[in-house]
Amino acid sequence: MSKVKTLGQFIIEKQADFPYAKGEFSRLLRDIGIAAKIVNREVNKAGLADILGETGDSNVQGEQVKKLDVFANEQFIAALTVGGEVCALASEENEEIIVVDNEQSKNAKYVVAFDPLDGSSNIDANVSVGTIFSVYRRTSLSGPGTLEDFMQRGTEQVAAGYIIYGSSTMLVYTTGKGVNGFTLDPSIGEFCLSHPNIKIPKSGKTYSINEGYYVHFPDGVKKFIKWCQEEDKASNRPYSSRYIGSAVADVHRNLLYGGVFIYPTTSQAPKGKLRVLYECNPMAFIVEQAGGKATDGFKRIMEIDTKALHQRTPIFIGSSEIVERAEEFMAKYAIAAR
Ligand code: AHG
Ligand code: MN
Ligand code: MN
Repeated sequence: MSKVKTLGQFIIEKQADFPYAKGEFSRLLRDIGIAAKIVNREVNKAGLADILGETGDSNVQGEQVKKLDVFANEQFIAALTVGGEVCALASEENEEIIVVDNEQSKNAKYVVAFDPLDGSSNIDANVSVGTIFSVYRRTSLSGPGTLEDFMQRGTEQVAAGYIIYGSSTMLVYTTGKGVNGFTLDPSIGEFCLSHPNIKIPKSGKTYSINEGYYVHFPDGVKKFIKWCQEEDKASNRPYSSRYIGSAVADVHRNLLYGGVFIYPTTSQAPKGKLRVLYECNPMAFIVEQAGGKATDGFKRIMEIDTKALHQRTPIFIGSSEIVERAEEFMAKYAIAAR
């Protein structure tokens, strides 16, 4: 008997953690796992010509060619609408929510917000990309889901996770009881538990930020970057700079090795770039569950009031000691700026 534990087995085992669970939530996670495998198959074929090209082109078979982010979006929508667990979806690729209004979703309890393909500008260069998802219990009582169902704080998430399509494909998720990582074994087509109970190191020696925008950063961020570059044996500085440009991949690396990922406000993007609902909240939930921190430089990401579907926020996320250090610089130079 093999010792391998698959995602499916793990989910069923964990259902006992939720005494009132009737299995819908387990099915929802399983559906996400299925969509992830389909997207993984296409991401792995991305170098093959016919999946590339802009939406609207046709390939040699005369079929419509789709960009991978559009393809990934369709796969996740399809997987999450057939199951009957979800009454509405919110995606980076759709301006409005996607209302799931079919017979089996009448009594659906959950809504899911997701970024179908994160870091998609990297795809044609064979650099890691990801999918991010966040699950909430609906706040409306019945019928099709509404926009209001998504206007919840990150603290209300019942689950969050990401899939990283990298040198191997991994699914990492939390339901608020720690973080577990599964690696896809392509030979059996299953996600297998490979990283049980992930804990982020308290500190680290990596900072991840698009330093090309240095001149546009707030003073606190500029000073923090300079601090990272100073020599100090006791705190292992200077730190290394690592920036992939796929938030999933940057956060995943720092989750395993320690470090901080920052996407601050810039003079070009005064509210930051990343989105609260389907990028920052889910990653914040995972990193907090692993023992790290996620803030906007001043306050906790998961306590941000969500007022719009595609709301943005600056984010500082990773090892608690480094995030706190960055917050000190933010506080100091915010006061100085007044
Ligand atoms: P997406 O591909 O979903 O639009 O997200 C890209 C995001 C994020 O993954 C990454 O960290 C960031 O954009 C990179 O932005 P810059 O090129 O401005 O650094
Ligand atoms: Mn993204
Ligand atoms: Mn995206």
